[in-house]
Parts: sequence; C-alpha cells; structure tokens
Amino acid sequence: MKKIIFAGVIAGLVLLTSPVLSMAQGGEVIKLPAPQITGGMPLMEALNLRQSARGNFGPAVNLTQQQISNLLWAANGLNRVQGNMRTAPTAAGWNNIDIYVTTSDGLFLYDAVAHALNVITKEDVRAISGLEGEGMMKQEFAKTAPISLVYVANMDIPNKTGMKWAGEDVSATWTYANAAGIAQNVSLFCASEGLACILRAMIDPVQISKTFKLRPGQRAILTTTIGQPAK
Ligand SMILES: Cc1cc2nc3c(=O)[nH]c(=O)nc-3n(C[C@H](O)[C@H](O)[C@H](O)COP(=O)(O)O)c2cc1C
Repeated sequence: MKKIIFAGVIAGLVLLTSPVLSMAQGGEVIKLPAPQITGGMPLMEALNLRQSARGNFGPAVNLTQQQISNLLWAANGLNRVQGNMRTAPTAAGWNNIDIYVTTSDGLFLYDAVAHALNVITKEDVRAISGLEGEGMMKQEFAKTAPISLVYVANMDIPNKTGMKWAGEDVSATWTYANAAGIAQNVSLFCASEGLACILRAMIDPVQISKTFKLRPGQRAILTTTIGQPAK
C-alpha cells in the first residue's frame, strides 16, 4: 500500500514538474526526427575537446533537423520514458528548466516528452539572447549564430512541489545547478559533433522575458550559442 502511495506521489510530482507538459498548447508543433542515441565521440575525447568559442564562429550554416533533434535530446531529452526521466539530472526531480530555441526560423519551446518544438513565433529573435545589461548589444555573434538554447527556469516549481522549506536561496541554487547540468550536456554534445559553442550567463533576462512572453515565475538564466567553428 505504502509503495502505491509513494508511486502516486512521485507520478504527481513528475506531472507538476513538467512545465512543458502542463502548458496549454494550441499553436503549431514541429515534430522532430527521432534522436540518434548511439554513436558519437567517446566521452573522454569529447571532454578533451570541450572549450568555449566566443564569437569565432565560422559562416552560419543552419543545423539540420536531425542535428537539432540530437542536440535537444542530449540537452534534456527523455532517456527513461517511464517517469519522464531525462538525460540531465535535476534536484528533487523538479525538472524545472525549459529550453527555448532561437534560429533564423523563429523561437521554439522544446517539448521533451513529445520530442517536438512548439512554435512561439516565426520571427527571427536571435539577437535578443546577445543583449547584455541595459539593452546593449555586446555579444553580436548571437545575432547570426545558427542556434541558441535559452535555459528558462520555472522558479516557482519548488514551492509547488511542497518544498517550501527549501526557501528562495536553496531553490535558486538548485535551479541554477539544474540548468548547468543541461548546459554541460550541450557542451559535450557540441564537442562530439565538432560544433562551436559558448555558454553565457551575461544575458538580459528582462528583454528575454518580454520577447519570449514568459510567465512571472519564469526567468531566463543561461544561454548556449552554437555554430560552426571557424576554420
Ligand atoms: C555559468 C557560466 C557563465 C558564463 N557566462 C559567460 C558569458 O556570459 N559570456 C562569455 O563570453 N562566456 C561565459 N562563460 C564561459 C567562460 O568564460 C569560460 O567557460 C571560461 O573562460 C573557461 O573557458 P573554456 O570554457 O574554454 O574552458 C560562462 C561560463 C559559465 C560556466
């Protein structure tokens, strides 16, 4: 009996902590091809190659849908369907990071469960993730790099999962750690794929919030900008 109650609580938590799942989506959805989850570079080689590329991207060539599929799966895709479990760990299973994707084709929200992109807008808003501070464009490369992943934290999830005891400090610290896990998956994927990338905390969350139409409990905390390496 206890086991059943425990499983029910976990299932409830999983649903609660799946912001993408619980969003009412009426818009266009782009189903991604199934991720290729075998192969790639040996882990130790990818670790050896991981590095930041800051602006020294080569000509911007869009990633293929297959590459985007693989990238997003590596970032935070489902690797255990039962229980909505992901390639990146999250504190207390909060699963409270959404990945927004900007490309020249628009702005999308990754739905890991459906392995699909929800279209937010078909406008090119890539420049937004290159803003820093008071609306100043400092990281110009974000405007033309083929793709950026913006990690948006649902800061209100910890409260909703009955972990009020954690308080704001612990909730925020754990949430940042959750985003960092995803970001590191992305860095290693890029190393393995021969893509250049830079993880950035210097973003303008206020501008991003407006453009992405985020809810009050959401905050953009990190971004990885990805492109082809300069030759
Ligand atoms: C949490 C975090 C935030 C970062 N923010 C920025 C940033 O806003 N802009 C930037 O150019 N680099 C940023 N970086 C990249 C670091 O500057 C870079 O990782 C560091 O210089 C070490 O270089 P490496 O990644 O090539 O080993 C960030 C790295 C981390 C882990």
